[in-house]
Amino acid sequence: MRHFLRVFDFSPLEIQYLLKRAQELKKHFKEGISHRPLTGQILALIFEKPSTRTRVSFEAAMHRLGGQTIFLSRGDLQLARGEPLKDTARVLSRYVHAIVVRTFGQEVLEELARYASVPIINGLSDKHHPCQALSDVLTVIEKKGGLEGLKIAWVGDGNNVAHSWMEAAARLGFEFVLACPQGYDPDPQILQEVQEQAPIPVKIVRDPIEAVRGADVINTDVWASMGQEDEAQERKKVFAPYQVNKELLAHAKPEAIVLHCLPAHRGEEITEEVLEGPQSVVWDQAENKMWLHLALLEWLLAK
Ligand code: CP
Ligand code: NVA
Repeated sequence: MRHFLRVFDFSPLEIQYLLKRAQELKKHFKEGISHRPLTGQILALIFEKPSTRTRVSFEAAMHRLGGQTIFLSRGDLQLARGEPLKDTARVLSRYVHAIVVRTFGQEVLEELARYASVPIINGLSDKHHPCQALSDVLTVIEKKGGLEGLKIAWVGDGNNVAHSWMEAAARLGFEFVLACPQGYDPDPQILQEVQEQAPIPVKIVRDPIEAVRGADVINTDVWASMGQEDEAQERKKVFAPYQVNKELLAHAKPEAIVLHCLPAHRGEEITEEVLEGPQSVVWDQAENKMWLHLALLEWLLAK
């Protein structure tokens, strides 16, 4: 039984398997081939923050594989009235076969994983968004034919999605350059772990043009993540030079693609023109979350 709380929980070979399997499942389902190895299994989703893509793509993936889902927002559980995580984990493990959790602290996921006897999957925490990074990598592989020799740039906050991308870079060995304002660097502990393992060290720079120059992939995300609403005004000022717009994009390779995990704030971290432009692959990227989740659920749960 395995948990998936961060990208580093999986080996390079396991990640490569998942990426390959997601592509196979995508092809099979698009051809109309039915595949229901999870018939009779139940996935619970506990979400303490809103979600469009992660929630619906996990539920759709589970249903496509023949399983069923139970969605729970925090207020639905006795957790909201102080029941311990360790009790919740043990009780839910008697009812369902896996649990996707979207929460604030990574320690919540770790506590659940310690006591659960079914897989716990991180559907976003303040520190990591591992399923997002893996499905984004899947999109890059589809669009670029592989990861070999690519320069992948991250422009914006050194946040949860950035952390998971850094771990993916370390596991899969691609070049990853992150441009962020001073004070918004990735978590130093995660960065250190990444640098200890990365075949090509992750580079942190201040200048977005330096990050994007010659890049094959440009990646961004909101300036204020969920839970940082109080900082949103301040962040708008600090991050203004980090907008992904036409001028910045001109420094990348002409065939560069633009990723955004969504939801996007047009006019802030990305312009309408770039998001809706020919280099943007955000809709395929959003779709790929579902195919990656199919592969992940099958791998964790199929007998
Ligand atoms: N990208 C992503 O995780 O989106 P949601 O917040 O809609 O799940
Ligand atoms: N960094 C963003 C990602 C949303 C999918 C957040 O945590 O809100």
